[in-house]
Formats: sequence, C-alpha cells, structure tokens
Amino acid sequence: MDHFLYRDGVLFAEDVPVSEIAASVGTPFYVYSAATFLRHFQLFDEALNWGPHLVCFAMKSNSNQAILKLLGDAGAGMDVVSGGEYQRARAAGVSGDRIVFSGIGKTEAEMRMAIEGGIRQFNVESEPEMRVLSSVAASMGVEVPITVRINPDVDAKTHEKISTGKKGDKFGIPISRAHEVYGLAASLPGLKVIGIDVHIGSQLTDLEPFRLAYQKVAELTEALRAEGHEIMRLDLGGGLGIPYVQSNIAPPSPVDYGKMVQETVGHLGCEIEIEPGRLISGNAGLMVSKVIYVKSGEDRNFLILDGAMNDLIRPAMYGAHHDIIPVVEPAPGTEKEPYDIVGPVCESGDTFAKGRDMVPMKPDDLVAFRSAGAYGAVMSSEYNSRPLIPEVLVHGDQFAVIRPRPTFDEMINRDTIPEWL
Ligand code: LLP
Repeated sequence: MDHFLYRDGVLFAEDVPVSEIAASVGTPFYVYSAATFLRHFQLFDEALNWGPHLVCFAMKSNSNQAILKLLGDAGAGMDVVSGGEYQRARAAGVSGDRIVFSGIGKTEAEMRMAIEGGIRQFNVESEPEMRVLSSVAASMGVEVPITVRINPDVDAKTHEKISTGKKGDKFGIPISRAHEVYGLAASLPGLKVIGIDVHIGSQLTDLEPFRLAYQKVAELTEALRAEGHEIMRLDLGGGLGIPYVQSNIAPPSPVDYGKMVQETVGHLGCEIEIEPGRLISGNAGLMVSKVIYVKSGEDRNFLILDGAMNDLIRPAMYGAHHDIIPVVEPAPGTEKEPYDIVGPVCESGDTFAKGRDMVPMKPDDLVAFRSAGAYGAVMSSEYNSRPLIPEVLVHGDQFAVIRPRPTFDEMINRDTIPEWL
C-alpha cells in the first residue's frame, strides 16, 4: 500500500497534487511519501514484536538524510555499507548503537571511524577483514561486537545481479567453514563474537529461500553454541521484494515474513535484526517526468521524457519494470496505444519500457514512475552532464525539497582545471 492515489482527476502524493510539486520544483524529480515510509517500517517492526528485535533500514536503498531522520525518529536502526553511509546516518541523528556495518570491503579508516563514533556491530565477511578489524580495535584498546556473515548456499531465485547467498557469490564465508572462522574470531584480540549474519539477495518474491537460509542459521547457532560461542543476535539481512507490476499478485508481506522468522529461529532466544531496504522505501517514492516530444518512428511511437537512465537506472541495468502512469487521470475507457518510453541520453539503453500501453500522451504531459523510492535517487549520476534531480518529501498536505536541483554552475564548478593547462 502507498499514498499515491488519483483524486479529483490528478495524482496525489498524500494530500498534495503531484502537478503542484512539478510546478514548484520543475521536472524531473523524486517525490516521497513520509506516511508510506513509516507504515512500511512499522509493519516490519510489528511483525517481529514476538521478541527483541531491531529493524535496521538498508540505507543504500534511499539515503537522503530527511528519510533517515524520519525513520530513525520512529525507532529504526540503520544498515550501512560505507564510511559515507555511516556519516550520513550519524548526521541524521541515528546513534551508533543502532548502526550495523555491512559490506565486504571495509577499510581500516572506515572501521576506525565507526569505532570512534559508536557502532552496534560489524558484520564481518572474510578472514582478512576479521584480522584487520582485530588489529584496528586492539590498537584502539577496545573490543568490538561482531557477527560473521555466512553464505548459506541458497538460491534466492532473483535477478542474478542481486543474488548474494549462492556458492560463488562474493559475499560472506561458506557455511561449511563457519566453525573454523568463528574459532579464529574467538582467538583474536579486540573482537567480541555476538552473533551470525546472513543476507541472500534482494527482490525475493517467495519466502522459501529465506526459510531455507534461516533454518541453516538456526542449526549453525546451536552448533556454535555447543562449541562455546555466545550467539545472542541474528542479523537476517533484507531482501523482501515488492510488487513492481500493480496488477500482479503481491509478494509475501512483512507479517508473513515475521511469522516465518519466528518459526525458523524464534526458539533460539536471540535478538533479531533485519535489514530491509526496498520494502520500506520502494513504494514510498515516485519519479515524475515530463514528456518532451512524441516521435513517430517507422514501426512505433516514442515517448521522449525529460527523465533518463542517469536519473533512474534500474530499467537499463536490470531490465527492471516500473509502472509508468499519467499524472492526470485518464477518462475511463480511453484507448491505450503502445509506446517505447525513452530518455534523452545518447544510448539505446536509455529506454524505460518498450511497447508499453499508455493513454495518448502529448508534450508537457507529466508521467510518474511508480516504485522508484528504492535504488532510484541513490543510483543516479550526472551522465550527459544532466544535474542530479531534486528529491521532495511530502507529509500530509505539506511538502519540502529535501535535496535541491544543483544549478549548472554548481555542477560544472566541481571540476578544477589545473593551472598548467
Ligand atoms: N543487507 C545487505 C547486506 C544488502 O546487501 C542489501 C541489498 C540489503 C540488506 C537490502 O536489501 P533489500 O531489502 O533492499 O532488498 N540496486 C539493486 C538492489 C541491490 C541490493 C543490494 N543489497 C536494485 O535496484 O534492484
């Protein structure tokens, strides 16, 4: 469920007409619904209410500080994967004891930064990383809480670029080597083993792969405890998918997910952490764009928008589907026609959809890309020297620009020309 609905013939974001935001900030832009973000966070939070837990928002999916503050104030923790994300979370007011640090390539500088600023735990992904973290922590005279990310060798049945829990993926340590690696962790100074971490992939539309992975985590918990390791926290990762096509059957809900977590690991008495990104942020955002031209091709019509692959790369990168709807509600029964919906960037990959049925469109009409709140703005670039597009947050009947559109000068002036040129 989200808060982007037609009302009085126009698309609203909560109680604000999307056309009003377009008139105020220009197109293209991202718009987020605060109520949708909060609802999705609360769904997860309630689904895990059967025991101690912390929902750590995977801020890689949307890292605007206004969003982090909104969720942080509601009680969310954060899953960070870089020094930059750590700093952003802290700047948005999230305390270190609610930040978990994931990722396979943490540098010494990042470790030091997080230890100094406060950290809930590091999710360690390899032995070399473990040794470096140990020496950094020991040199600072502290003991840092860690989990080890295990790779359970489970097929997440999702797009290959976002599957992370199969043998051969670069993430975690093979579950078959867990005993050895936990043994190493226990022997190194500066580390305190507190739990196990797993994340098998993103946009999962079925609970079974999660169930398989979590069963393996449960078995491993018992085996490691038998060896004397204190396993009191399980970080179960993110990955629950969202319905990108509105007419499709929805993937399992956070409620179903929470029940499955209870069934698989509830008996262990561990504190549960999860790291959902997409399910919290995806349907909480739209990208709004304007039609520049309608061009008749030889065998098809092109809808040329002012938004492009640099603004929303998911269709070009993963062949991802986003519903694209007109901002002015079409009259009932209006015939649709197929369009290739494209951006102005100079490569054919800059195509959002092929042969997509849309009501007839004309220049200056506005369209909204649904489900663009996750992995949208955060993956954008200034390719073709197109300035990053603004982000707007709606809350009830108010809206605010939470990241302005840079001017051309601001974009251009980041370059420096050496004096010897
Ligand atoms: N935890 C870890 C360790 C992760 O690597 C990820 C996502 C998450 C949590 C959050 O997963 P989510 O709940 O959002 O599925 N750019 C791609 C998605 C990449 C996901 C990377 N890792 C896309 O646009 O589909």
